[in-house]
Amino acid sequence: MDMERLKKEYMNISDKIYIFDTTLRDGEQTPGVALTVDEKIQIARKLNNLGVDKIEVGFPASSKGEIESCRRIKALDFDSTLVGLARSLRKDIDAVIDSDLEYIHTFLGTSPSHRDYKLKMNKEQIIETAVDGVEYAKDHGLKVEFSAEDATRTEYDFLCDVFDNIVDAGADILDIPDTVGVLTPITTYALISDIKEKFNIPISVHFHNDFGLATANTLVAIERGANQAHVTVNGLGERTGNCSLEELVVTLKAAYGIDLGLDTTRLYSLSNLVGRLTGVKMPVNKPIVGDNAFAHESGIHVHGILNNSSTYEPISPEMVGHSRRIVLGKHTGANSLKSKLKEYHIDLDDEQFDNVFTQIKELGDSGKCITDDDLVSIAITELSSARETRIVLKGLGLSSGGGVSPTATVKLEIDGEEKEAASTGVGPIDASINAIQSLISDTMNINLEEYNLEAITGGTDALAEVFVVTSDPDDNRSTGRSTNQDIVMASILAVLDSINKLLLIQSV
Ligand code: KIV
Ligand code: ZN
Repeated sequence: MDMERLKKEYMNISDKIYIFDTTLRDGEQTPGVALTVDEKIQIARKLNNLGVDKIEVGFPASSKGEIESCRRIKALDFDSTLVGLARSLRKDIDAVIDSDLEYIHTFLGTSPSHRDYKLKMNKEQIIETAVDGVEYAKDHGLKVEFSAEDATRTEYDFLCDVFDNIVDAGADILDIPDTVGVLTPITTYALISDIKEKFNIPISVHFHNDFGLATANTLVAIERGANQAHVTVNGLGERTGNCSLEELVVTLKAAYGIDLGLDTTRLYSLSNLVGRLTGVKMPVNKPIVGDNAFAHESGIHVHGILNNSSTYEPISPEMVGHSRRIVLGKHTGANSLKSKLKEYHIDLDDEQFDNVFTQIKELGDSGKCITDDDLVSIAITELSSARETRIVLKGLGLSSGGGVSPTATVKLEIDGEEKEAASTGVGPIDASINAIQSLISDTMNINLEEYNLEAITGGTDALAEVFVVTSDPDDNRSTGRSTNQDIVMASILAVLDSINKLLLIQSV
């Protein structure tokens, strides 16, 4: 596509586009999310390091804690401009002033719905109140951005009337919120084109994602000359959220070559921090930062990616600080499996490779997602069938009962030499695993990371299936599995299975 021609004929992109991040305000209004002052500071620091132009740090009139967090962030003296939200009310504006902020974002509902059902004000009262807020803030030396809340459901002539008055009152920038996300790309195109033609003042947009169009609409607004976009990390915000910071910034750079001066390599870690602190985890298919954003499973795609990543990736994962993942499953091809095995330094002969490949396909067909740990475990099991098992259980004695600590005596053959040890524990399984650990401590230092016990048949003679994950200090991990009618035996054999595989992993 001839982008330069498209830009010239269809777009009117402004020379400078400002990123106004509202993760700490609208993002915090995500249902169920509340951030502590320290958490807000951590996020603000990362936003500043990323290089966003403005950070809406809070709504000071809403609580004392908000004023405190705004003040503490302000004291950090960031490069990003810090913004405080206020209704068009003098007491709200005072709270922003009290927070030491120099940039205010005032707002007032302008749509019939907000006028009639929420504010109970007529059009004149709306204009009077909004203008008073802007003038009061300007009189206190603040930079003022005014939002006509629910602008996109406001009669167009009245919206222009409000904006005319707000401009006369001295506002520095006008914001158009699509408060309930009703815009579409073409209605955005028309609205922003008209507003840009009529007003000679910077225009900002604040679009919600109710129909999943927030990022697309924000992009169109920028294409039609909007000077600023309100965004949130991970697209957080009221209900279904706002335009996503990472999606917008990356699209502008990748599709149009517009570099906003942000360090995009920080996006993934910022997204993770926000996900962790807010408890809102991203779906795996979330663009740019989701687990699958750079993950490939199908043989055809992996083959392409291994030759040149541009075949099936629009940008490199490094551009956003993410990483590529080759996932195994029913669509896996031989090339993917080979590259995965190479990654783990596992050498299989042709027959072993075919066996592993078949197992991966069978697991995939049964609907299982195959993790790297699974693959290593399958491949190592395949390898171990051709090698001697280094640690073998030779005997087990248990004693437990009222008033005495459960004790296990375990006899193992380790590299051909028999050794025996007794240990106590909170129960017979714990005691047995402690005994194993004491016996192998010369050979290796292992950690039991996971232990899962499942009864796979009913009754007192039920078969127990034990699944364990062990690791060593070098972070090698290995799974082990065993099924037995005796749960202690199943546990010991699963642990030994896992340890033997770990020894193999260490040797490859
Ligand atoms: O969505 C909205 O209208 C808002 C305003 C406060 C700008 O968040
Ligand atoms: Zn909003």
